[in-house]
Formats: sequence, C-alpha cells, structure tokens
Amino acid sequence: MKKLIAGNWKMNGSLESNAALVQALLSHSADWKCDVALCVPAPYLSQLQNLSKASPLMFGAQDVSMHEAGAFTGEISAGMLKDFECRYVIVGHSERRQFHLESDALVANKAQKALASGITPIVCVGETLQEREAGLTEEVVKRQLAAVIHLNGHCISEIVLAYEPVWAIGTGKTATPEQAQHVHAVLRAQLHAASAHADRVHIVYGGSMNAANASQLLAQPDIDGGLVGGASLKAADFLSIIAAAH
Ligand code: PGA
Repeated sequence: MKKLIAGNWKMNGSLESNAALVQALLSHSADWKCDVALCVPAPYLSQLQNLSKASPLMFGAQDVSMHEAGAFTGEISAGMLKDFECRYVIVGHSERRQFHLESDALVANKAQKALASGITPIVCVGETLQEREAGLTEEVVKRQLAAVIHLNGHCISEIVLAYEPVWAIGTGKTATPEQAQHVHAVLRAQLHAASAHADRVHIVYGGSMNAANASQLLAQPDIDGGLVGGASLKAADFLSIIAAAH
C-alpha cells in the first residue's frame, strides 16, 4: 500500500507563509513516492484548493461538525468542506478530545458525517501517559475505535486511522517503533474483525514524528504513514519525512 504522510498544521499559518511553504513542498513533488496531504485551518482551505491545483498534493480540514446545517454558531459542516474539495478531515484529535471535551460517540458521529459527504476522516486514537502507565493503552484505543466501528459499520474500511499517543504529541517524545507497531497491530486486528477490507485501511502514526525517526517508524509492517504536526510546518523537515515514506 502506498504510504500516506499528512501534515497537521494545527492553528498555525498565514496567507503569506502558507504560500511559501506549499510552493517549497511542491517544488519537490516529482520525487514523492507516497500520498501527501495537508490538514489546514478552515479559513485557508480555499487557498490550498488553489495552490494544490494540478499537483499531487491533497488537503483537508482539522475538524467537522456532527450536524448537517442549522443553528450551530461557529461549526463547519461536511458539506461545506466538500464545497472546497477537501479530501480529508481529522476527527477526534486528542487536542479536541482534551480541550473541547469531545467524546468517543461525538467523534464517531463526525466520522459518519465526513464519510456521508465523501470525505475521508482521519480518526485519531491514543492513550495519555497516565493511561499507558496504568497498563490501559490497548483498552483505551480499542474503546475509541469501537465507537467509530459501531456507528460506521461496513464503511469502516474507508477511514484513515491515526494512532497518536497523547504523551508523544508535541513533546519530542516519540513512541519507539516497537511500541507503535504493537498498538497498530492491535488496531489492525480490531479492523479485521469488523471488515473484510481492513488491509486497505491506512493506519498512520502521529506524535513527534520527525526527519530523524520517520524511517524506522515507517519500516514497521502496520505503520502505513504519518500524521505530522510540528515537523509539517518546515518544508525541509516535512520533505525528509516524505522521502522516508516509500
Ligand atoms: P506533533 O503533532 O507531530 O507536533 O507531535 C502530531 C499531531 O498532533 O497530529
């Protein structure tokens, strides 16, 4: 399977710096051997739509509403994201679970809305440090994925799954390739039990992935790509990760 390297810009960027970053990335796009996407703040979707035209770069959003339309001030629907040709949307990022109190059920609803609009949800799961130390890693990620499987049933092979241990996000602490592979294998088995097409689901790793550790992580049998935060904001770093994905 072709690997997927997706950048998560989080709440960073400006019209000027986005243009410079995307142009720097695209100047190397002839060398890309993997799928490459950028998940950007919603106001920049139209900019990405323009910048990525006639290029292999795909883009997406970082969140979507569980509602379709109506009195939900500040929310953005899957239909609106589709209007801007979003290919992906991140759902259930740990920063949204933690700071916006998103539950497993809400995340499953958001994934359902994305799928119904033809957008691939990048569903994030991952344990906190406290949960890992208490030996609860498998239980937590399985519970988070089970909610999404429960609501999305036969469509489950259409998602991208991101394993992002919360203790590794933005901390410079990466899961070892063995730690990550172990959890990815657990998630793959859970997908297999739910779908005959589990083999085609990209399970990507996120959490301080960088130019130095990407190759080893991406060499693991069940690591099909990366969801990259900090290192996606610097062209040279992101390009090194892309180069490691072949
Ligand atoms: P990081 O973020 O690469 O900066 O750790 C990853 C993410 O939050 O998706």
